[in-house]
This record gives sequence, C-alpha cells and structure tokens, in this order.
Amino acid sequence: MNKKLSVLNAKREEAFLGGGEKRIEQQHKKGKLTARERLHFLLDEGSFEEIGMLVAHRSTDFGMQDEKYPGDGVVTGYGTVNGRLTYVFSQDFTVFGGSLSETHAEKICKIMDMALKNGAPLIGLNDSGGARIQEGVVSLGGYADIFYKNTMASGVIPQLSAIMGPCAGGAVYSPAITDFILMVENTSYMFVTGPNVVKTVTHEEVTSEELGGAQTHATKSGVTHFACANEIEAINHVKKLLSYMPQNCEEQAPFEDYDFGDEKRSKLNEIMPENANQPYDIREVIEEVIDADSFLEVHKDFAENIVVGFARLAGRSIGLVANQPAFLAGVLDIHASTKAARFVRFCDAFNIPLLVFEDVPGFLPGTDQEWNAIITNGAKLLYAFCEATVPRITVITRKAYGGAYDVMNSKHIGADMNYAWPSAEIAVMGAKGAAEIIFKREISSAPNPEEKWLEKEKEYSDIFANPYRAAERGFIDEVIEPADTRSKLIKAFKMLENKVVNNPRKKHGNIPL
Ligand code: HXC
Repeated sequence: MNKKLSVLNAKREEAFLGGGEKRIEQQHKKGKLTARERLHFLLDEGSFEEIGMLVAHRSTDFGMQDEKYPGDGVVTGYGTVNGRLTYVFSQDFTVFGGSLSETHAEKICKIMDMALKNGAPLIGLNDSGGARIQEGVVSLGGYADIFYKNTMASGVIPQLSAIMGPCAGGAVYSPAITDFILMVENTSYMFVTGPNVVKTVTHEEVTSEELGGAQTHATKSGVTHFACANEIEAINHVKKLLSYMPQNCEEQAPFEDYDFGDEKRSKLNEIMPENANQPYDIREVIEEVIDADSFLEVHKDFAENIVVGFARLAGRSIGLVANQPAFLAGVLDIHASTKAARFVRFCDAFNIPLLVFEDVPGFLPGTDQEWNAIITNGAKLLYAFCEATVPRITVITRKAYGGAYDVMNSKHIGADMNYAWPSAEIAVMGAKGAAEIIFKREISSAPNPEEKWLEKEKEYSDIFANPYRAAERGFIDEVIEPADTRSKLIKAFKMLENKVVNNPRKKHGNIPL
C-alpha cells in the first residue's frame, strides 16, 4: 500500500504545481495569485474538496500528447463560504494560459450540473486565454456547453464571475450570462477581440486597459458590476455578495441577528433641501434607513443617476433601487433603466424584497436617447417591476414626474406599499412646463405674460407639487414623516413576508430586450 500511496501523492503533487514552478513565478510577478491560492482565500479553511484533479486532455495534434498537466488548467470542486455550500471553478493560467480545452470544459460543466442539482451558488474565477487553440472546434463546443448550462442555471442558483486575468473571445460570454461580474484593476481584461484585431478592423489604436480593463467596464460599458483594486478585494466582494443571497430560488436569503432599538431617524427630516431643484445625495437617505454598514452598492460607477445595491433592514436582505438627485438630477436614461432592470430581476428571481427611493424628474429627452431606444430600454425597467412578485415598497422622497412615476415601482404596477414624504411632488410634469402648455393661450393674451406665467405655475404647483392628490386616490398609502421611514419599512416588510402572487402561467414573458 505504501508504494501505491506514494504514486498517488506524486500525482497530487504534480497537480498542485499546475504548469510548473516557473510559470507560477511568472504569475506572481504579474501581481496575480494562482488558481489554488485564490480558492484558499475564497473558501472557509479546510472546506475545499477537489473534483477532477487528475483529469487530462485528450488532444494529440501539435504534439499535445506529450504535454499534459493533471487537472488540465482548471481546479474544480466544492467548499463553503461563511459556512454555506458553494461550487467553484478556478482557471489555472499556468497551464496553457488557462485556455479552455474539451476536458477543461467538461470539468466546469460537471461542477455546474452539481451546483444546479444541489441548489447552491456557482463561483467562477476566470483567468483564461480563451479557446484552446490546439483543439479547434471541440474547445468551441466546450464553451457552448458552458453557455447553455449558465443559461439553464440562470434564476435557479446565483452565479458569480470574478475575472482575474485576460478574458478574450467567447470566454467573455459565460461571465456575461452570470448574475454578477467582478474585475480586478490592471490585471484583468474582457473583450470580444483584443487591441490587435481592433487595429486591423477599425484602425483604432487602443490599449488592453482602455479597451476592456476594469475601469472601462465599470464606467463605460457597465459589463462589470465591481472594479476591485486587487484580487483579495475581489474575493472579499464575492463573499460579501453571497451573504445577501439565498442558496437557490426556492430559499430565502439568510437573516442576520439584529438588535431592535429606537428606529426613529431624525436626521432624515433634515436631508431634503428647501429648494426642490437643489440636489442631495440619496445615499445619505439610504444609510440612515438601513442597518449600519450594510449597504453593498452594485454598479457604483455606471449610470450614477440611479443607485442600486444590497442592504439589510432589521437583519433582512433587501435590494435597493434609488434615483440619485445628485447626478443628472436623478433622471432616467438608457443606462439607468437597464442597470436597474437587471438588478430588479435578480432580486425577484432570488426572493430578495425590493425597496425603491424615488426622486425622479422624468425620462431624459433628446435625440441621443431616442435614437438609442430609450423607449425600449425604459420599458425594460417597467417590465422588470411589473413582473416582480417579491415584496415591493416605494418611498417617494421628492419628485415623481411623468412616466417615471409609473415606472418607479408605483402602486399601479404592483408595489405593495407606497409611502411619500411631505416633500413629494407627484404630477405629469413640473409646474413650469405644465403652465406653459395648458395655459399657453391665457398667458400669451395676458397684458403681462411673464407675470401670468408665474401665477399659473404657482397655481399648478399648489395643486400638484405635493403628495396629497395621490394620497386621496390611495396611490400613496401613507404620507410619512421622514424620520419614521425606517420603522415604517421594517413593519411593512415584516407584514409582507408571506406575500404570494402568482403571475399568469406562460412559457416565458417577452421582456423588451
Ligand atoms: C492555447 C494558450 C492560449 C490559447 C495562451 N496560451 N492562450 N494556449 N490556447 N488560447 C498559452 C501560451 O502559448 C503560453 O504558453 C501561455 O499560455 C501564456 O501565454 P502568453 O501569451 O505567454 O501570456 P501573456 O503574454 O500574459 O498573454 C496572455 C494572452 C495571450 C493575452 C491571453 O496569450 C493571448 O492573446 N492568447 C490568445 C487569446 C485568444 O485569441 N484566444 C482565443 C479566443 S477565441 P507557454 O507554454 O509559453 O507558457 C475564443 C473563441 C471561443 O475563445 C468562442 C466561443 C463562442
């Protein structure tokens, strides 16, 4: 037996070394961890169980039969994150640049199948040069198998993708199908084609960082939800994200212990500026309402006119969607709509109640928005809220104008509780614009049109620039003192905890993509 054990140990040692010490050194020199080191930081100590350590590729072209590494460029298995079961794959750049062979793909697919069958999250740590060039079409097939399984698992188990290195070609599409992407600044890239191809096709000169680095995707494209300073930060973000999520779509996210105290938050009475056109930071409102230090903002640097993220309210995981008056006056545009729509759908898929703070002057007008389909994109957010069946609460802090009033989780599209602060203004449009349209003839024929306009503006404003017309109709359930917002929300979410809504049976809806 001892002899046999030493054979096993030798094989294991070989697998632990991946592509060899020299390549591990190169990986470290680039400021990157190895596939196994990343798993060490991600999973609870001693919890990792590896599956497929000795899998080897079957390729024979280009002398590949003489170059085999146990594990074939990806470490797969399961473990726990903060005590909760999690399935993982971690690509090993030291083995053929982490490229995806037929067997590498099979290992990932096996883990995905297990995650789906057993109802636990899947985390992919991506560091790969894409399809293994020596294998040709079988590697393309391997990618397609993964895309298919990502799609089947979507909405069933949470899927998170951390991009820890290059991610080129088809390799970007698996992360794109998953729920959240995290990138590392300066060492990770995502692009369909790299700078050289870009130069040939479009004659643009662009660096990898500019084309597909973390900052680019965090600010310009919105492809990544998080840009992290280094790999450890990315791994810690993955763990934190998981803490707000249930294991699968049949379960609730875990509660955290919470000490109830005085829930009155007087500071909320002071945040709203006197002048309704003055900005304020909606994050100040969020921080006052939620449990201390519980906010994890998603897509922080993209479409900043809307803020989305996870938080806890009296220990309960919630998803927050909030217009941001401090950026573009909180207007809804294409990016804000798609950002929020995707977040709403994630929360709904995984039973995470939604809290909306509304202060929105309307949709952004202009040719840029119209020609790029603000109609279709704005409709995504509308659709996402309409079909969401989780407990949904809205607090209108100030403006709720036009179509944006409807879209932002209004009572009419299924919100359960709608609160307004006394500072709320709920109308078809702002008083100035409204007076100009409906009193046009009266104003132009008046001896002093400017004065008349102001008079009519005030008249419209007196009637509509408040929450009371909406409250009279029951579109607003209660006008509340801002300081009471937290306690109202805690009670309302508790009241809604057994909410059951069944949308009509269908194969699937047709969200305006
Ligand atoms: C096989 C690969 C490889 C690949 C890298 N390697 N990419 N082996 N298939 N796709 C190997 C290299 O030969 C090298 O082996 C080692 O990995 C490290 O690569 P380097 O180039 O030395 O590293 P670096 O300078 O850091 O550059 C990394 C890289 C570059 C940016 C990823 O290697 C690269 O551009 N690779 C090709 C990317 C690509 O075009 N992939 C195909 C995309 S198309 P040694 O032995 O020297 O250590 C695709 C289609 C999928 O993915 C479609 C699905 C829909």
